[in-house]
Amino acid sequence: MENKSLKVSFIGCGNMAKAVISGLIESGWPAELVMASNPSSEKLVALHEQYGLHITNNNREAAEFADIVVLAVKPQKMPDVLPQLSHINFADKFIISVAAGYMSTKIETGLDQSVPIIRAMPNTPALIKLGATGMFATSKVNTEQKQVAQSIFEAIGETVWVEKESQIDIVTAIAGSSPAYAFLFMQAIIDQAVANGLSEEKAFKLVTQAISGAAQLAQAQTDKSLEILRKEVTSPGGTTAAAISSFKNDDFENIVKKAVSAAVNRGRELGK
Ligand SMILES: NC(=O)c1ccc[n+]([C@@H]2O[C@H](COP(=O)([O-])OP(=O)(O)OC[C@H]3O[C@@H](n4cnc5c(N)ncnc54)[C@H](OP(=O)(O)O)[C@@H]3O)[C@@H](O)[C@H]2O)c1
Repeated sequence: MENKSLKVSFIGCGNMAKAVISGLIESGWPAELVMASNPSSEKLVALHEQYGLHITNNNREAAEFADIVVLAVKPQKMPDVLPQLSHINFADKFIISVAAGYMSTKIETGLDQSVPIIRAMPNTPALIKLGATGMFATSKVNTEQKQVAQSIFEAIGETVWVEKESQIDIVTAIAGSSPAYAFLFMQAIIDQAVANGLSEEKAFKLVTQAISGAAQLAQAQTDKSLEILRKEVTSPGGTTAAAISSFKNDDFENIVKKAVSAAVNRGRELGK
């Protein structure tokens, strides 16, 4: 299976599809091999004008066109969309679903046939090609299909395969949701900077750069654990030590662990 010679269709053309499409085409996938389907036309026309890909309002036409069908509608729309595609022969096609919490068995039931399915869970930094995508392949997916799917999501950031479909709920909680945790954390730091007399604009610039820099430092220095990196900025009796001690007194780590568990459990509930 030759990468970039396969036809790819997107069913649903919202934020996530747009991020993947732009990564795909900007990484050299020919636009004439890409089709997007969406009920309303505005987003389609904008994408067509920007990239020259095929567009349609007909999901079935899009799925028939493609070797790879990317399901990018909201999970609650899947029961409408899947029966529209059930008469298509998927023998030479495979599916990538980004719909959160929607199990592969439910996709097969909706399509009324057995199909190779990859579930991919990207996150919003994919919009600027800094995504973190967790991926799971069902047993019917072959190695070439896995490689192609991986190359699609590598166009919008880093990818990680998980062995069990249930682990996608963990991916959702730690990669899908982590940007929101980081935004909450950064906003609290900024608010306190403002309360102490710094302007919001300056605090935003410093805090977002510091958090982004910390993440990149951790990625660049993998020989050091996160704990060592933290200790390197924490002089005994210093300012960081005062903050870390306050965090520990307030049981910060358990607060975070409890929140991540809540996200994992919610993912499991929604997936039922
Ligand atoms: N955003 C994220 O961070 C993220 C991360 C991981 C996974 N996901 C998953 O990605 C999927 C899409 O999310 P999103 O954020 O891109 O949502 P979105 O921006 O709302 O996009 C959904 C798109 O689906 C279209 N649509 C609605 N009904 C349809 C139908 N029957 N057939 C074809 N298209 C239809 C909508 O069109 P109209 O606007 O015309 O109704 C809209 O353009 C979801 O399943 C979500 O779980 C999102």
